[in-house]
Amino acid sequence: MTAATVYVVGVGPGDPELMTLKAARVISTAPVIAYFCRHDKMGHARKIADSHIKPGTKELRFAYPFTTERLVNDPSYHPDMSSFYDECAKQIAVEIEAGRSVALLCEGDPFLYGSAMYVFDRLESVGPCEVIPGITGMSGCWTQAALPMTHGDDVLCVLPATMPEDDLAQWLKQADAAVVMKLGRNLPKLRTALERAGRLQDAVYVERGTQEEARVLPLNDMNGAAPYFSLALLPGRRGVR
Ligand SMILES: C[S@@+](CC[C@H](N)C(=O)[O-])C[C@H]1O[C@@H](n2cnc3c(N)ncnc32)[C@H](O)[C@@H]1O
Repeated sequence: MTAATVYVVGVGPGDPELMTLKAARVISTAPVIAYFCRHDKMGHARKIADSHIKPGTKELRFAYPFTTERLVNDPSYHPDMSSFYDECAKQIAVEIEAGRSVALLCEGDPFLYGSAMYVFDRLESVGPCEVIPGITGMSGCWTQAALPMTHGDDVLCVLPATMPEDDLAQWLKQADAAVVMKLGRNLPKLRTALERAGRLQDAVYVERGTQEEARVLPLNDMNGAAPYFSLALLPGRRGVR
């Protein structure tokens, strides 16, 4: 008999068909699934995986103690998040000790800015752990936008829009191709940084890539607030043909 295992499962960028066969198999056979969510929401990874979850599967719902209402530089942010991830790992350990495998769902790929990484770091002593990679959000988005990204020797930079404007401007000036994630309230700052880097005209905004409500437009035309599932793409320089 296979030992109870924690599977950290990448479920892809949003379109349920953009999930690996392995992820679909593990989700449909694991006796327990776990996922992160906002306290008032279903959880995006849970939604993507929905059609593969069999009736009777036990669900561990990990509701974040806070999301955008607390800033990362708030002194309580890291201690409180750390306690939250400790608690998630504890709940998973209880299932493993009882002999039940757990599939921990994660949007895109688990090891790219995924919350599941923090739980993964706490699972070493819990039992066997297998990570199943997923198609990343950025890959889903540049496909949605029909935007070839890296050409020849282009260097691709992946940047979080949460960084200071000066740093963003510097990276964007230097990068051939770039992906800027975590837009949300950082969109106005990113627009200024792109302008300073002389790259605003090339930037493409993608919202909810590969999902039914997906939107693609020049970033310069994007007015209003950006949702959590949005990013900016700066294609490479097409130096080689
Ligand atoms: C915490 S990171 C998780 C990334 C995920 N693990 C991945 O592999 O794409 C969340 C950020 O990814 C980006 N993102 C992920 N999926 C997306 C999608 N389908 N459309 C637009 N942005 C997406 C957004 O910038 C969002 O703020």
